[in-house]
Amino acid sequence: MIIGVPKEIKNNENRVALTPGGVAEFKKHNHTVYVQATAGLGSGFSDEDYVAAGAQILPTIEDVYGIAEMIIKVKEPIASEYNLVKEGQLIFTYFHFASSEELTHAMIERKAICLAYETVEKKDRSLPLLIPMSEVAGRMAPQEGAKYLEKPMKGRGILLGGVPGVKPAEVLVLGGGIVGTQAAKIAAGFGASVTIMDINLSRLRELDNIMPANVKTQMSNHYNIKEAIKTADLIIGAVLIPGAKAPHLITRDMLKDMRPGTVLVDVAVDQGGCIETCKPTTHENPTFIIDDVVHYCVANMPGAVPFTSTLALTNATLPYAVLLANKGWQAACSQNDELRLGLNVVNGEVVYKGVAEAFNLPYTSVNNVLEAYA
Ligand SMILES: NC(=O)c1ccc[n+]([C@@H]2O[C@H](COP(=O)([O-])OP(=O)(O)OC[C@H]3O[C@@H](n4cnc5c(N)ncnc54)[C@H](O)[C@@H]3O)[C@@H](O)[C@H]2O)c1
Repeated sequence: MIIGVPKEIKNNENRVALTPGGVAEFKKHNHTVYVQATAGLGSGFSDEDYVAAGAQILPTIEDVYGIAEMIIKVKEPIASEYNLVKEGQLIFTYFHFASSEELTHAMIERKAICLAYETVEKKDRSLPLLIPMSEVAGRMAPQEGAKYLEKPMKGRGILLGGVPGVKPAEVLVLGGGIVGTQAAKIAAGFGASVTIMDINLSRLRELDNIMPANVKTQMSNHYNIKEAIKTADLIIGAVLIPGAKAPHLITRDMLKDMRPGTVLVDVAVDQGGCIETCKPTTHENPTFIIDDVVHYCVANMPGAVPFTSTLALTNATLPYAVLLANKGWQAACSQNDELRLGLNVVNGEVVYKGVAEAFNLPYTSVNNVLEAYA
């Protein structure tokens, strides 16, 4: 198969969808890989690195879309890319269709095969191509929190780990899933005194078994949260209710119970945030202050660490991408349940129910579509 890797052009996106190691893997299976010039620079890979691994470099994005049977990307195509997509071309990337009617219509019109990272799903309902980014954001949260706790950054002026003879900072993590677990682990590694709250008692039991001694678990409820925020220095929001907006576990009136300089890192901001006063911010302007409480609510935290995020993402996407190249999307999706769930739009038809429902579009079952190709 001919694989194309365009340079990401969305604002401040420095990740790339394929590493030189990934190119070598495709070459091993006799595929041809074209990479747009400088596509990997933001993640630390030069054009020479790609060439050494067996890729060919093309100067423009038009060249890459023009030649490829499968495009592998990171972010959804933006408006200037819509017309580059060819009929029948397989696009494997994050789409998040339900949040963009314009993109959905564009891909329907282009008659592309759109396989969305975010809906590839395992039998246990986990989302293998979202987990790596949750891991990155979770591990970043205490790092960002520690920075904004410093006095010049308007924080309380407390060191997460304390020093001998001085108590460490208190970190409260709301939600003990992927983000919360990674956040707690890193905060504990810094030496902070960490509490994880979750509504899932089985999860709290698991965490209690695997976490170091400076991490405590506690049931998440309004009373416990209200008490804990009085002494927390850093609060990390990491809750998720699948398919729903995050619940506001900390409301505006609760800010007055916090000490000045408390830092809130609401990682769940992309689902509306679990802290009422959070609204999405950017890496250029990551924080704002309400009632002397510092709010950090960057909606794409992994974008700040592309060297790590690109490797984390491609470790997860590459096996699926190779399968698609080896078998073709029709056979790969027919035989692999996880990949089949990734199909969202196929040749002008919406085959993912959530997307059809979001915009009142006709829905065609993915199995019907695949049968037609069998
Ligand atoms: N900002 C970013 O850059 C970024 C990056 C990755 C993920 N995220 C977001 O982070 C959030 C968490 O993702 P995840 O992968 O950890 O999800 P997850 O499903 O692994 O974990 C969510 C946890 O929240 C718990 N929970 C639900 N309701 C709760 C409540 N009332 N109190 C306490 N806990 C509760 C669940 O039991 C679960 O353990 C999501 O909204 C995700 O989209 C943001």
